[in-house]
Amino acid sequence: MPTRIVIVDHDADRQRTLAAALRRGGHETVAAHSASEAFDRWSAERPDVMLVEADLPEVDGFALATRIRAQETPGTHLPILLLTDVGDTEHKVRALRAGADDLQVRPIHAAELSARIRSLLARYAPREAPKQATTEGQVHAYYGAKGGVGTTTLAINAAIALHRGMRRKVVLLDANLQFGDHRVFLDLGLDRRSIVDVVTSSSIDEDIIRSIVVHHDSGIDLLLAPPSPESAELVSSEQHHLAQVIAALRRMYDYVVVDVDSQLDDTSLDVVGAADALFVVMTADLSCLKNVRLVLETMKQLDASVDKVQLVLNRSNAFTGINVKTAESALRRRIDFQILNDYRTAISAMNSGSPFNAARSESPLSRAVLEMMRTVDRAEHPAQAVPRLVPLRA
Ligand SMILES: Nc1ncnc2c1ncn2[C@@H]1O[C@H](COP(=O)(O)OP(=O)(O)OP(=O)(O)O)[C@@H](O)[C@H]1O
Ligand SMILES: [Mg+2]
Repeated sequence: MPTRIVIVDHDADRQRTLAAALRRGGHETVAAHSASEAFDRWSAERPDVMLVEADLPEVDGFALATRIRAQETPGTHLPILLLTDVGDTEHKVRALRAGADDLQVRPIHAAELSARIRSLLARYAPREAPKQATTEGQVHAYYGAKGGVGTTTLAINAAIALHRGMRRKVVLLDANLQFGDHRVFLDLGLDRRSIVDVVTSSSIDEDIIRSIVVHHDSGIDLLLAPPSPESAELVSSEQHHLAQVIAALRRMYDYVVVDVDSQLDDTSLDVVGAADALFVVMTADLSCLKNVRLVLETMKQLDASVDKVQLVLNRSNAFTGINVKTAESALRRRIDFQILNDYRTAISAMNSGSPFNAARSESPLSRAVLEMMRTVDRAEHPAQAVPRLVPLRA
């Protein structure tokens, strides 16, 4: 997996030049323009390294390093490299006292910077444990109580949050076989390979899947829906193709996030059956309430565990005339998660092909999705829970 580096600099030109050089070296980069933005990025995304301009306005790079050190979980260490124009001893001592690991004096040479990053990474070994072959990943299925409630939006961003916030190895499967739209949401062309290539290969196994998944810039892998509605027929419900694919994926990833078609047909029921958690996405309106009741009833009839249902109220603060309490009493159960209404963030992410949990991880909408995933991940991995952080103030 590529190293993720946060570059903190208020100077946009310097920021861009450095990001381009690091990306050429195969790293992922995340931009922050102030100490408080950097702090938010750190708490939301757990990067591998942080490069910080020492002379930031308001809270400077030294103070940022000190505050990160003060809030780090014991046993973890973010390598911090301060960048400066002033290379005197006093500056170096100040940087080390502040908690930075190294100081790089400008002009910066790509090869030297790269060597310093490598040595920091070697010193503070990466925290991500490789997936054990013996443990199976969790399957999270996202099912919309009706069309257009935000199921795809939440599935994509939740997958990214699990990877960026919790450092999990994640694959996102688009199981809307006829009209899957992850290519649109993630800015990928029709030429990318899809689940059809997996199920039409000689056997559905890990090697084939590895050669077909698309690695997305956000760090997650994607198994895309067929490129046309006609080719969707090749994914057969009689042969339980989706269930076979999911079984293979869960051997390879910590989380398999599946965006399920809102028709409850045989194919979707296979996914629901395989899921460890079923996130039923709804909005506060009568037709969703009716459909959620039907889903809960269907689960009972299928002898599937109703306990695995997680009700997610999307656009929770949008005015519909039905509030959370009313919805809960109509359903006679609690709503597990609420995701706020922020159409501007959601639609601009969709139109630009950059999901908000990757491109705008500090936005309230991204944070709501991240919090939901933290709660779920904490329940599954209680020993490794990531603590909440106190925000940085100037
Ligand atoms: N929390 C939110 N706040 C505001 N707008 C949102 C939110 N979540 C999703 N949206 C918007 O709702 C619209 C539908 O989203 P999306 O395509 O994810 O829904 P869907 O349930 O997957 O739809 P479909 O049934 O077509 O598959 C999009 O314009 C999206 O930007
Ligand atoms: Mg959808």
